[in-house]
Amino acid sequence: MSTVSSDPPHRIDPSGGCPHARNARLREGGAVAAVVLPDDVRGMLVLGHEALKEFLGHSDVAKDSRHFAALAEGRIPEGWPLRTFATVRGMTTADGEDHRRLRSLVSRAFTARRVDALRPRVEALTDELLDGLAAAARSGDGVADLRAHFALPLPMGVICELFGVDAEFRELLHRLSNDVVATNIEPERAVAANREMVSVLAQVVASREREPGDDLTSALLAAHEADGDRLSREELIGTLILFLVAGHETTLNLITNAVRALCAHREQLDLVCDGAAGWADVVEETLRWDSPVSYFPFRYPTRDLTVDGTLIPKGTPVLAGYSGAGRDPAAHGPDADRFDVTRVPPGRHLSLGHGAHYCLGAPLARLEATVALERLFARFPALDLAVREEELPVNASFVGNSVRELPVRPGPDARHG
Ligand code: HEM
Ligand code: HEM
Repeated sequence: MSTVSSDPPHRIDPSGGCPHARNARLREGGAVAAVVLPDDVRGMLVLGHEALKEFLGHSDVAKDSRHFAALAEGRIPEGWPLRTFATVRGMTTADGEDHRRLRSLVSRAFTARRVDALRPRVEALTDELLDGLAAAARSGDGVADLRAHFALPLPMGVICELFGVDAEFRELLHRLSNDVVATNIEPERAVAANREMVSVLAQVVASREREPGDDLTSALLAAHEADGDRLSREELIGTLILFLVAGHETTLNLITNAVRALCAHREQLDLVCDGAAGWADVVEETLRWDSPVSYFPFRYPTRDLTVDGTLIPKGTPVLAGYSGAGRDPAAHGPDADRFDVTRVPPGRHLSLGHGAHYCLGAPLARLEATVALERLFARFPALDLAVREEELPVNASFVGNSVRELPVRPGPDARHG
């Protein structure tokens, strides 16, 4: 028998905050919680591991916003802060055949070979950024923000490499993509940034059209030329924007969260240095324990659906609660809250998604994070937080999960003895 959750629904604070305490509280009421989104829009959150897995893979759950009942009935205000997530067009909001078409063209072009081929560039870029981190610390009394100087420029640089973006556009693209996902700027500026981004990417596409290279843009253009499933010019640019926004803050958060966790649990770092665990284990445990994506908007049941005993009415906007699933004791044991890089068996997680919309960039995200951590701690083995962990400012979004800054003391540089 299903029940409609009787607890008063939890109001989700759009300004974010650490999700773990909230998740623990909500989980007491079950794996599915009723929540109130900004502007009093009623939604639900799936935050138990098994429930989320079932929900993400369910054939009666859609991502296309025409299934969003309140939106279809005109009850969602024009300036609703989460509106873009629902209404943006592209593979993240497409279902069934449409989704397969958009995704298969990209996944055909975004091959394992293309990801592997990026490794030397990821390594070179990492080393360059570590020079920058060292320089920033030298001019900052030994302290530098690892997020600004390392974790943020790395994914951005890699994406530019992947797209074949000419050097002259990189700075601009970087600034624009920050503006597009910024939550602290006026809507007009975000809209302007979005428009400018489309125009810069159109120039990138034109440049690769004239001079194709071994990059994703050129490969997508070739797919566009080929017979069969065509990707329109608009869809091509939409795909590039999607890669920019989906690969940027996520990877930034993963690297930040991993460094924070290792500094706050020094014995775990020692286990890696002693060879008892690998850097890939650190990456997977960080994904589980401190998911870079906290609550991802939205999916809508296409009929009344009961998940783990709770009814989710048809058309409800539902958040995928990745940060909650990662610490669910029912899936990860009573010590789910503990950061442990030697978990046996390794903690399975859903932090890269599950089902048809599973993260397309997962191999690249793993490559970037592994290279980044390995090289960071090889070069600065004594690297540590420069402030007490409790003082770190938490992110201002409930979609992402991280801190706003990560001030560190890199300490002695192994490269210079
Ligand atoms: C640590 C880094 C990353 C994390 C934690 C992450 C997480 C996720 C998650 C949770 C989803 C599913 C969202 C949902 O529908 O509920 C997703 C989808 C996606 N990710 Fe990632 N991601 C990461 C890096 C990347 C990178 C580097 C790229 C591309 C270069 C990328 C491209 C995508 C795309 C295109 C989708 C949409 C797939 C679809 O709708 O079919 N991601 N990611
Ligand atoms: C750390 C996690 C993430 C954060 C903090 C984040 C944040 C944001 C923000 C603030 C926006 C702007 C919304 C608006 O304009 O009103 C946005 C747009 C978007 N995000 Fe994310 N996001 C994250 C992860 C992802 C993932 C995993 C995907 C892929 C499935 C994704 C896909 C998109 C898309 C397609 C847009 C719309 C871009 C456009 O304006 O064309 N995001 N994101």
